[in-house]
Amino acid sequence: MGTILVTGAFGQIGTELVPFLEKKFGKEHVIASDIRNVEGVFPGSRFRMLDVSSRKDVSAVIREEDVTSIFHLAGILSATGEKNPDLAFSVNLNGTYNILAEARDLGVEKVLIPSTIGVFGTSTPKKGTPVETVIRPSTMYGITKISCELLGEYFHSKFGLDVRGLRFPGIISYRTAPTAGTTDYSVEMFLHAIRGNPYSCYLKKDTGLPMMYMPDAINAMVQLCEADSARLTRRTDYHVSAYSLTPGMLEEAIRKHVPDFHVTYAPDFREAIAEQWPESLDCSISSRDWGFSPKYGIEETVIDMLENLRRD
Ligand code: SER
Repeated sequence: MGTILVTGAFGQIGTELVPFLEKKFGKEHVIASDIRNVEGVFPGSRFRMLDVSSRKDVSAVIREEDVTSIFHLAGILSATGEKNPDLAFSVNLNGTYNILAEARDLGVEKVLIPSTIGVFGTSTPKKGTPVETVIRPSTMYGITKISCELLGEYFHSKFGLDVRGLRFPGIISYRTAPTAGTTDYSVEMFLHAIRGNPYSCYLKKDTGLPMMYMPDAINAMVQLCEADSARLTRRTDYHVSAYSLTPGMLEEAIRKHVPDFHVTYAPDFREAIAEQWPESLDCSISSRDWGFSPKYGIEETVIDMLENLRRD
């Protein structure tokens, strides 16, 4: 067993992936890294400060820690990316290039890079969106993430680096409240409901987006990583999603359990981002190639979210 490096470990996915990997492989085999340390999130874990946009620092961490595989989660999401395109370009594009180039040069065995529904644009078919389709994103997030997918494919075909990746939808989770994306309303809605507060949603009531619950997202990443390479017909663009959700549907599903919950709708700039993205994804290639099969539907997600938020 080698050493797994997780970049962006304090992000929404990282905070759940790190403990998952530690449980599966042992704490000694996992290194959490992020641009800053947040005390107390990963007690007893191995941690390295890492700015992925510095190639020198990426190289040092991989070398010094004898890294054998990387979950490269560090990235700037859609909403922050529109406010700070320079930062999104630097972290997403330069950061991914640095990870791939150093992984190649230092003999890392496997690199997983998550991508996103943000790679799609208004000319993409909205429903059951296939992997191969029109891809013309117009956000800095989408532009950098499609470039990262292509960089991953390039490093695989040209240098034989084992790069794998999936296009995530919005992810619902309770451990870390996401704050930088367009799909975050879903988590915010739960947090307001559980505190007995009304919620003002920044998307329209009927804006549909593909979504999934965090345990299914974590399983998908690990399953893809462990899949037999010979069965993979894609490299960096496997679709994963469990359902198509609108804010109105989620409001209704939560209200079944929190009857007094009240939502108003005041769309802001994030509505324009969401309207460029698909409503649902075709995930059949992921199911066929590596057995993707999400367990949580909308109702199961809502029940589990409320249960965990109430407990915490
Ligand atoms: N969750 C991301 C965002 O909203 C999409 O992949 O930016």
